[in-house]
Amino acid sequence: MLRNIEVSEVGMGCMAFSHGYGQIPEEEYSIEAIRNAHEHGCTFFDTAEVYSPNLSGIGHNELIVGKALKGFREDVVLATKLMLHGFGFGSVYKSIRSHLEGSLDRLQTDYVDIYYLHRMSGVPVEKVAEAMGKLMDEGLIRGWGLSQVDVDVIDRAQSVTPLAAIQNIYSMVERDCEAKIIPYCMEHNIGFVPFSPIASGLLSGKITPQTQFERNDDVRNWVPQLSRRNIEGNQPIVEMLKSFAEKKNVTPAQISLAWMLHKYPNVVPIPGSKNKERIIENLDSANVVLTDAEFKELEEALNGLKVYGHRGLGGF
Ligand SMILES: NC(=O)c1ccc[n+]([C@@H]2O[C@H](COP(=O)([O-])OP(=O)(O)OC[C@H]3O[C@@H](n4cnc5c(N)ncnc54)[C@H](OP(=O)(O)O)[C@@H]3O)[C@@H](O)[C@H]2O)c1
Repeated sequence: MLRNIEVSEVGMGCMAFSHGYGQIPEEEYSIEAIRNAHEHGCTFFDTAEVYSPNLSGIGHNELIVGKALKGFREDVVLATKLMLHGFGFGSVYKSIRSHLEGSLDRLQTDYVDIYYLHRMSGVPVEKVAEAMGKLMDEGLIRGWGLSQVDVDVIDRAQSVTPLAAIQNIYSMVERDCEAKIIPYCMEHNIGFVPFSPIASGLLSGKITPQTQFERNDDVRNWVPQLSRRNIEGNQPIVEMLKSFAEKKNVTPAQISLAWMLHKYPNVVPIPGSKNKERIIENLDSANVVLTDAEFKELEEALNGLKVYGHRGLGGF
């Protein structure tokens, strides 16, 4: 649950159909992959207005998601995000509303379930929260969220208009949010939506120091845990996951997701993949049940291993 909004245990990040992981698939393939995910039980889809090749232009991904969800849009929870650059149209509300209207158009819908501010800019979060409250009253969005924010910003926003979800980076190798943010969200009935939950592929065990990332529009070239040296440094984590997964006859990526599902009741990861089979594999992590003893074993192993590379909440 993301506040009062019910979603499948695992969602689907749609970004890679447009941006961030090298060459993008044919549109037809992406649409089919999204529809397959829905048929497999996924009811939570994540996009953003800025997801376009090389982040140039607006809406490439929203157009794909809109086409894919046509026919069953009301059965799913659709989340998108806006980037706010200053006050634009004279008021924060007008500016946000104008971004939202663009997204609604591209997504072929008349409401968004969760509307996130993608990054904090110069606009005070209280003003954003006020505007989001108004859009909720108007029925244009069902809930709102923030992305890559600390607990102080969350608290200031929450006191104006209660949040449905926080979308921050979180995985076995990016655990900053465990200290304050996830506990705050639990206490205030806010869903926590980890992005890059497989650490951009590291935790799948499929990346080696020899893996060549693509040259064009591939974030893995600068994800800190994925420099050649850090891939080597992180091998003990990958090996630990591989042997754990083998014992349970599942995959390392599934263990990395099952771990966070077991750990917190309010966490709904949105793994990303542009591969139909892996999308289903990731959704199936919801069926991987860890016993308390297995979870403890994983936690202890993780706590004893050094992570090489850290992204955190700052920067990108
Ligand atoms: N709010 C934000 O600022 C923000 C930032 C980044 C992302 N996001 C959202 O979060 C979603 C997920 O994040 P992400 O895509 O960066 O990271 P991720 O889910 O941790 O990893 C994606 C990478 O892992 C690979 N992968 C995924 N599942 C796999 C599996 N089972 N086996 C082997 N490899 C696997 C993918 O390759 P293949 O495609 O080849 O499978 C891709 O290279 C995005 O789609 C987007 O919606 C939000």
